[in-house]
Amino acid sequence: MTDDRAPSAPAADGFPPAPGSHDPEALRRRALDALLTARARTATLTDSVEDGELTAQHSPLMSPLVWDLAHIGNQEEQWLLRAVGGRQALRPEIDGLYDAFEHPRSARPSLPLLAPAEARTYASDVRGRALDILEAAPLHEGGRPLERAGFAFGMIAQHEQQHDETMLITHQLRSRPAALTAPAPPDPTDAGSLPGEVLVPAGPFTMGTSAEPWALDNERPAHRREVAAFHLDTSPVTCGAYQRFMADGGYTDPRWWAPEGWDMVREHGLTAPLFWHRDAGQWLRRRFGVTEPVPEDEPVLHVSWYEADAYARWAGRRLPTESEWEKAARHDPATGRSLRYPWGDTDPTPEHANLGQRHLRPARAGAYPAGRAPSGAGQLIGDVWEWTSSDFLPYPGFVAFPYREYSDVFFGPGHKVLRGGSFAVDQVACRGTFRNWDLPVRRQIFSGFRTARDA
Ligand code: AVJ
Ligand code: FE
Repeated sequence: MTDDRAPSAPAADGFPPAPGSHDPEALRRRALDALLTARARTATLTDSVEDGELTAQHSPLMSPLVWDLAHIGNQEEQWLLRAVGGRQALRPEIDGLYDAFEHPRSARPSLPLLAPAEARTYASDVRGRALDILEAAPLHEGGRPLERAGFAFGMIAQHEQQHDETMLITHQLRSRPAALTAPAPPDPTDAGSLPGEVLVPAGPFTMGTSAEPWALDNERPAHRREVAAFHLDTSPVTCGAYQRFMADGGYTDPRWWAPEGWDMVREHGLTAPLFWHRDAGQWLRRRFGVTEPVPEDEPVLHVSWYEADAYARWAGRRLPTESEWEKAARHDPATGRSLRYPWGDTDPTPEHANLGQRHLRPARAGAYPAGRAPSGAGQLIGDVWEWTSSDFLPYPGFVAFPYREYSDVFFGPGHKVLRGGSFAVDQVACRGTFRNWDLPVRRQIFSGFRTARDA
């Protein structure tokens, strides 16, 4: 543990700490709130279907929902009960079953998993003990790295929310009638007057963070990056724009595709984003058990990195690099600082961004004017995860913490970075510095993109 990892390290990125972020009692309340919010969502996702659907595998890409449920409890047991609390294992025999590296997702249904009722009891037993430990844990700055600023509690809340997003993907993949409902997101108010792209002038900015108490290892440390001038789409690419690429033969012309992407198109006969089909001359999509016309001005969802890359090339543009994305989202030219979020340093509200599964779809392009960055770009946080052109790599000075399997083992050219979060991610696991990654072929995730060009 080096000092630049510590939440008490000087704020090299210059942003003031989150409200109360160095106050142990405020952090304790924040951790409690984050854990309770995550568990309420886990309950929604697992109580909304019959037990038979919890143990079934809805796609070989996904675990049965009951695996995610017990895995959430098991990670919490390992980090909060054993590592922080020094407790004995509740059920040592199940650790292997819920180790994501021991069993690929496709093999999980045939494991002797805890049955739904057992998994629920296990997760709630762990939670009861974790809350006792939280109540007494010393979260002050000089404490142990795991406890300092409540890091382990924040990490476990983020972990549960990440699996909640994974479970929502499983819900989207199930071929049954809708189990979940939510109101529509807000409409745009000034979309007609928005420029198509914004200019981000050349210059250095601070990428990553050393100050955010619950930032995960791959977001650290803060460091300076030089970025050349570029233009970036004001909003994510819409279904309407994407259909023009399709209508122009986008999926039949190898010119637009990276070689591996073209192989994927031919091997799987791809003609459209995942969950779309054509009926009577119209594109329809299936969304959480409901079939509906594809909405023209909503950000396109369920595209792979290869499709995003091909679209960008067809449009005479390119995907933004990860540094470009973060500069457009965080750099404030008025102060030279990097903000926690595009709109500033305050936590998200429902006016800023479409987060937290409050809605079951992205908002139309141009929505959330209060969430725009100083660059003028909007909807950077929430709505759809945005593919960048960048490989998932460590920042200079990276230190794996608290376990190598969170980020370190995934670094390299095989994984592409996604930024900004989707409607399905909770705010505890989403911020201007947050980094997600996946294989470039993946399209069941809540992924979209925006494009860029050199200035
Ligand atoms: C960061 C979303 C790629 O789901 O594989 C969950 C998060 N890590 N459990 C994933 C994660 C361990 C991870 N992603
Ligand atoms: Fe996990």
